[in-house]
Amino acid sequence: MRTYLVTGGAGFIGSNYIHYMLDKYGDTIRIINVDALTYAGNLENLADIEHLPNYQFIKADITDREAISRIFAENDIDRVVHFAAETHVDRSIKDPEVFVRTNVLGTAVMLNCARGAWEQPDGSYPKDKRFLHVSTDEVYGSLPDDGGYFYETTPYAPHSPYSASKASSDMLVKSYVDTYHFPANITNCSNNYGPYQFPEKLIPLIINNALSGRKLPVYGDGKNVRDWLYVMDHAKAIDMVQEQGRIGETYNVGGHNEKQNIEIIHIILDVLKEKLPDDDPRKAQIGEQLITYVADRKGHDRRYAIAPDKIRAEIGWEPETMFEEGIRKTIEWYFDHEDWMKNVTSGDYQNYYKEMYTE
Ligand code: NAD
Ligand code: DAU
Repeated sequence: MRTYLVTGGAGFIGSNYIHYMLDKYGDTIRIINVDALTYAGNLENLADIEHLPNYQFIKADITDREAISRIFAENDIDRVVHFAAETHVDRSIKDPEVFVRTNVLGTAVMLNCARGAWEQPDGSYPKDKRFLHVSTDEVYGSLPDDGGYFYETTPYAPHSPYSASKASSDMLVKSYVDTYHFPANITNCSNNYGPYQFPEKLIPLIINNALSGRKLPVYGDGKNVRDWLYVMDHAKAIDMVQEQGRIGETYNVGGHNEKQNIEIIHIILDVLKEKLPDDDPRKAQIGEQLITYVADRKGHDRRYAIAPDKIRAEIGWEPETMFEEGIRKTIEWYFDHEDWMKNVTSGDYQNYYKEMYTE
């Protein structure tokens, strides 16, 4: 039975990935989920699988070298899938240090502990050991409105403390490949959307605000472009890269689904209006009048667009979920999980929101 060590599995993409893997492989794999349960980690995301004998949760911080090396010592780990990170650009602009700590130091600890457990006396590694570092297209910086794509060969040019910390973590992974022949891959993915995404990010924030009759904050002119990918397509790409990718290689993952932020907001408003029954009082309050242009994000990247040519040619991965279908599934999920939204937006979220959007 192959054993996976997943970091950050209580977050948005990590919890979707765990669901994807358990659906696909059932009890032929074992998953250990290590998560510090920051504001972004939520065990409710995994409530339906927590009873499974081949799933285990360990609360630990990835910067805690002792805790992480103990997990490697006590378990024969075959695959590491490293999601754990601080992930919100706006928070990184307010408080960069925790991004450096978790994203850079945390990745260094994960790499060092995996190497310590896996490296053989002659410097080689058993064939089935693989480390996958989940990274972002933001490391490549920003593209102009009028064209171009991010390729694996595009030079790194991060602009925010978040993307700079992810770029640094990618460099550490690359250094382990070059220095120790460490069996790692990196995936650099575009913006994900889907169930369980924390409502500090654009899509769930807009859904939640629209349903609560709150203003919909649009940064700058609303014409920044992101390349949106349904989260389960990302989960599938991660699995395929880990099983079929060439060791040491980086793969860009994206949906060729570029949209301006303002377009996304209009799509969400249209779907919400269509989905809400006529007798729901929220239906009348949802509309363009909620859209509010606010000050731009500092250092705001203009456009992201991934060229997923390499992963398609070498591995045969392609995005499967059309945006029209994915956004409907996502909105339906938030409709069906209003308690989830209430739980994650109680307490600290209110303070974050007030500080971010009104002060
Ligand atoms: P998220 O913020 O929803 O979840 C992050 C998880 O990591 C949480 O469960 C949190 O508790 C955990 N965590 C944070 N600090 C930790 C620490 N010190 N020790 C242990 N656990 C810790 O993030 P996400 O959106 O699911 O992103 C997951 C990964 O994918 C990140 O590495 C991110 O850079 C990358 N990524 C995200 C996107 C996106 O659109 N969301 C796109 C490309 C890549
Ligand atoms: O590209 C991958 C990245 O996508 C990931 O690495 C990050 O972890 C993830 O957070 C995401 O980063 P973005 O900054 O692109 O996502 P966010 O949802 O924060 O913002 C998307 C766009 O919407 C961006 O142009 C800023 C804008 N925006 C965002 C918020 C929260 C608004 O206009 N208003 C808002 O209130």
